[in-house]
Amino acid sequence: MSLVDEARAVRENAHVPYSRFKVGAAIRTASGTVFRGCNVENVAYPEGTCAEAGAIAAMVAGGERAIAEVAVIADSPVPVSPCGGCRQKLAEFAGPDTPVTLATTDGARLETTVGALLPGAFDASQMSRA
Ligand code: THU
Repeated sequence: MSLVDEARAVRENAHVPYSRFKVGAAIRTASGTVFRGCNVENVAYPEGTCAEAGAIAAMVAGGERAIAEVAVIADSPVPVSPCGGCRQKLAEFAGPDTPVTLATTDGARLETTVGALLPGAFDASQMSRA
């Protein structure tokens, strides 16, 4: 199954009673394993989590940390744009050249990279004087 199809499948499990906006994310790691996540909303709205965050949590819980490729999908008019927080979360485990496919359920695709999504990312080197 393609990584976009993995994201499409897990999207169906999203818990979205408040936004009604289902998102699915899939991460392929350096080992070739695929980890999936969907958004999980909460009645206390800020406690909701994004699909990307769920996929990252599944990856780390599965003992892996090296993101090789990412796909995110939603029923949006243009390929879904990861939020700022998720861009930083992806950058924690991916390089700037790591490919990211942003997709719509009706077939539109935007191919980008983690570095293009988060130019000028804060990274550990900036704490070198601490
Ligand atoms: N959402 C994601 O899960 N990922 C994104 O890339 C964009 C936004 C979720 C969060 C919330 O559950 C819903 O979409 C509306 O913001």
